[in-house]
Amino acid sequence: MKRVDDFRLMFGNKEFVPIMIGGMGVDISTAELALEAARLGGIGHISDAMVTDVSDRRFDTKFVKNKLKLYRHNIHNSDKSLIKFDLGALAEATQRHVESTMQAKKGDGLIFVNCMEKLTMNAPRETLQVRMAAALDAGIDGITLSAGLHLGSFGLLADHARFRHAKLGIIVSSVRALQLFLRKNARLDRLPDYVIVEGPLAGGHLGFGTDWAQYDLATIIGEVLKYLQSEQLAIPVIAAGGIFTGSDAVSFLDAGSAAVQVATRFTVADECGLPSKVKQEYFKASEDDIIVNTVSPTGYPMRMLRNTPAIGAGTRPNCEAYGYLLDGNGGCAYITAYNRELALHPDAKTLSVLDKTCLCTHMRNFNCWTCGQTTYRLKDTTRRLPDGSYQTLTAEHIFRDYQFSTDQKVALPE
Ligand SMILES: Cc1cc2nc3c(=O)[nH]c(=O)nc-3n(C[C@H](O)[C@H](O)[C@H](O)COP(=O)(O)O)c2cc1C
Repeated sequence: MKRVDDFRLMFGNKEFVPIMIGGMGVDISTAELALEAARLGGIGHISDAMVTDVSDRRFDTKFVKNKLKLYRHNIHNSDKSLIKFDLGALAEATQRHVESTMQAKKGDGLIFVNCMEKLTMNAPRETLQVRMAAALDAGIDGITLSAGLHLGSFGLLADHARFRHAKLGIIVSSVRALQLFLRKNARLDRLPDYVIVEGPLAGGHLGFGTDWAQYDLATIIGEVLKYLQSEQLAIPVIAAGGIFTGSDAVSFLDAGSAAVQVATRFTVADECGLPSKVKQEYFKASEDDIIVNTVSPTGYPMRMLRNTPAIGAGTRPNCEAYGYLLDGNGGCAYITAYNRELALHPDAKTLSVLDKTCLCTHMRNFNCWTCGQTTYRLKDTTRRLPDGSYQTLTAEHIFRDYQFSTDQKVALPE
């Protein structure tokens, strides 16, 4: 019976355990989690989502406080267009986060940064360019472009000294998205080093509409592999979304994927950034508790637990402090929804906004419990403690379970 360990992901002549831990913002896929994947010979992701805040928490910097100080006068103004990100501060925060992670790296694996392109920050091109360049400057092994996939993103890096050496990958959910990206990038003579194909069962934002249930990862992967073969392009394809056991992973590797990207199993790892209480919510979830809704102001459906505190919260928009989802004109679907409710209930002590959520605030506070479809199975991966809570697992345990298990089995912790 085959195991994941019978396969290797090849980048050039270097080989890796074909397990990638997916990026999970905001600091859910921590440096500690990514470092474990690299130590064990696989690939880990940190995320640069709200990196100034992550830096403040990790390194006691004052990026968010300083931005808030500058724009505090605008808090009650519904027009957020004047809010700008200090690009120098953004670069510094990214460099700190990446550099400290890379300095701690051990083992033969790699560490990539997940860059969500939907973090538009009122200047989509400029801020993305700074984020990616700063990560490369700080020595990141690679960049995974996700959620948004601006067709011109590689072009923003074309002059960077590491453009042709660092690993650059993209996440797509259809062969069509991949075709568009490759066509647009043809003039750069720089192919992605890997393509992650994320299916409809993944956590976070989905690259599908609300009809996500009609799609199936294996079918999409088949289409992508066929297309790449017809174009004679040898780009490793990495399967993601709903891969819960080592045997699930083997079925994708057997069918031509070069690796798998997994995340949900690691949300209950000791090294994962979610607070302990939230990890227990993930363990407790039943299948009915996992929903896909459209409360994210990014415009993408998002999967989360039904009892996530972010749903319905009428939080005043915190763009002066955060503002990561401001589009190029200072707009955000949450600001619009909030202002509508405020106009309808001007005297209300608390507001409820049901159709959108202030994603910056709630991701920052770990109050948006996004998760993959398989979250309800997490309870089967561990033991219950005498107090009724579930035992969290080490990232090493989960990684090795993916790497060595067979027969759809999941190894329980000692
Ligand atoms: C809690 C959580 C947060 C996530 N956040 C992000 C993110 O910020 N950016 C991203 O590209 N993908 C994100 N994802 C998707 C994962 O990186 C990964 O591709 C996917 O969840 C894999 O499927 P699985 O969770 O079923 O293993 C997130 C997933 C989870 C579970």
